[in-house]
Amino acid sequence: MKEKTILVTGAAGFIGSNLIKRLLDTVSDVKVVGIDNMNDYYDVSLKEHRLQPLTENKNFVFVRGSIADQALVDGVFKEYAPDIVVNLAAQAGVRYSITNPEAYIESNLVGFFRILEACRHSREQGRKGVEHLVYASSSSVYGANKKVPYATTDQVDHPVSLYAATKKSNELMAYAYSKLYEIPVTGLRFFTVYGPAGRPDMAYFSFTNKLVKGEKIQIFNHGDMYRDFTYIDDIITGVVRVMEKIPKADEDGVRSHVYNIGNNKPESLLRFVEILEECLMKEHIIEKPAEKEFLPMQPGDVYQTYADVDELKSDFGFAPSTSLEEGLGRYARWYKEYYQK
Ligand SMILES: NC(=O)c1ccc[n+]([C@@H]2O[C@H](COP(=O)([O-])OP(=O)(O)OC[C@H]3O[C@@H](n4cnc5c(N)ncnc54)[C@H](O)[C@@H]3O)[C@@H](O)[C@H]2O)c1
Repeated sequence: MKEKTILVTGAAGFIGSNLIKRLLDTVSDVKVVGIDNMNDYYDVSLKEHRLQPLTENKNFVFVRGSIADQALVDGVFKEYAPDIVVNLAAQAGVRYSITNPEAYIESNLVGFFRILEACRHSREQGRKGVEHLVYASSSSVYGANKKVPYATTDQVDHPVSLYAATKKSNELMAYAYSKLYEIPVTGLRFFTVYGPAGRPDMAYFSFTNKLVKGEKIQIFNHGDMYRDFTYIDDIITGVVRVMEKIPKADEDGVRSHVYNIGNNKPESLLRFVEILEECLMKEHIIEKPAEKEFLPMQPGDVYQTYADVDELKSDFGFAPSTSLEEGLGRYARWYKEYYQK
């Protein structure tokens, strides 16, 4: 990726900001352009906190705006002519798609369509254009899948949330654009990613906030839920490796591929909370474990996420190495530094 121009959407997001940091730190003479609309789905100051150190790097340009804005997207592609595009901008979250469905259509469908169109036009009139589009999908596409581990060969036609439906749609849209306009595309189905400056809408973060306030925490499905938690640095290593290599053509000559990117080691929600409590106690953020309220399953939630990552291992040598104790320990130290200073 040396000397290339890379466009990352969702630049102030959890995964986007960490990806940009890694690119700026490790790739020589790289130019990174980041887009983010800085929406207030969660605390905007956290997005600013992630973005601020990046903006000090002369090889980084930040563009504030929405990927659903055609003029903005076309303008960015015209001005910077990216070689590689990583689309991470999206309205995330499963529960919020019940109360605010519009945001998902706007960012995940219209926004992704704008990116696809811009990639397509970048390659017209004999120009080299975008060499590889990598985009975020989600483990949510597996919906109520009972077979584990979840493999990309499983049928995923039964989404249990609008969020999941938009992510599955992204995979179909990407395939169609790849077939029609020969754009190499790789979709990544992320499984629960956690770490310092992570997303406050995710369970580990909201649990922490409640633990700090001494509030009771709610454990859904009576704790009988499993998540394939992956530490952010492991995820970023995987994403960078994927960006570097365009997918092989399938039997129809289409260069469109989807991978799971997760840990392949689901942990029960209850055990996860115990480790989190231990880490927070170690940092003296809390003094004792929280009182827990056990509740039934929530609409849109899935029982278990468990990634089959054999393909990512064999194609890219992907091997997450951070234990929950280590990863949550780093998160706890960040939390203390950020909120308690
Ligand atoms: N973190 C996870 O565990 C996880 C799991 C599955 C899938 N994903 C997917 O990975 C991607 C990145 O996730 P994340 O955890 O970093 O989420 P995030 O919410 O922290 O980051 C997304 C960023 O995109 C921005 N954004 C949203 N709509 C936009 C728009 N229309 N135009 C420009 N910017 C916009 C937001 O402001 C935010 O900063 C998302 O597509 C998400 O759906 C993440």
